[in-house]
Amino acid sequence: MTNRKEKLRIGVLASGGGTNLQAIIDRSLDGSLDAEIAVVLSNNPDAGALERAAQKGIATRCINHREFGSREEFDRAMVAALQEAGVELVVLAGFMRIITETFLTAFPQRIINIHPALLPAFPGLHVQQQALDYGARFSGCTVHFVDGGVDTGPIIIQAVVPIIPGDNADRLAARILEQEHLIYPRAIQLFAEGRIKIEGRQVIITPPPPDVSGALVNPALNS
Ligand code: GRF
Repeated sequence: MTNRKEKLRIGVLASGGGTNLQAIIDRSLDGSLDAEIAVVLSNNPDAGALERAAQKGIATRCINHREFGSREEFDRAMVAALQEAGVELVVLAGFMRIITETFLTAFPQRIINIHPALLPAFPGLHVQQQALDYGARFSGCTVHFVDGGVDTGPIIIQAVVPIIPGDNADRLAARILEQEHLIYPRAIQLFAEGRIKIEGRQVIITPPPPDVSGALVNPALNS
């Protein structure tokens, strides 16, 4: 990690099973991610993510959105919990709530999300099925900064996943998830190393990574 003595303190927000959280936990434990998970927050008391964190002795908090009168009130409670834990980067990992301006202004350019499609194609929900229904030949996953829109913020890293004959949403989702588990820790590491800068819609990475050359073609040219 460059220019930092301390590990980056991250707060992970998850509503569900938490396999992305698990990948982040595993990478921080094996030393390949210079980040410390300061807290895991969920809006869902039954989230598997809370259990995964607790098993590793990571602080958890459940803040149930149903107990709040408005999105803003809920977000204020989330922000307070994150600030209390000294969080520097907010990592949304299957967090199923819309973030309000209250949240965005508390962590400017410091909230990232993972989405299981190749944005800007297929924002929103049920996107693996959408990609199949559309007849796309590729989908994938995207880590991006969060802005005021739904899945619209500047893109940090993407992985491309081919759609194959006979695919269904579950099989495609599983192959995309494998890539999510690789690119999310990588995006956090780039942030931890201080290598990420946002210029308009562009995310500039310094020093620049090696060029990605070549193209994927599906179906293959020689098929
Ligand atoms: C992932 O597909 C992620 O891209 C989406 O929600 C899902 C969360 O999965 N935002 P998990 O809880 O990390 O297993």
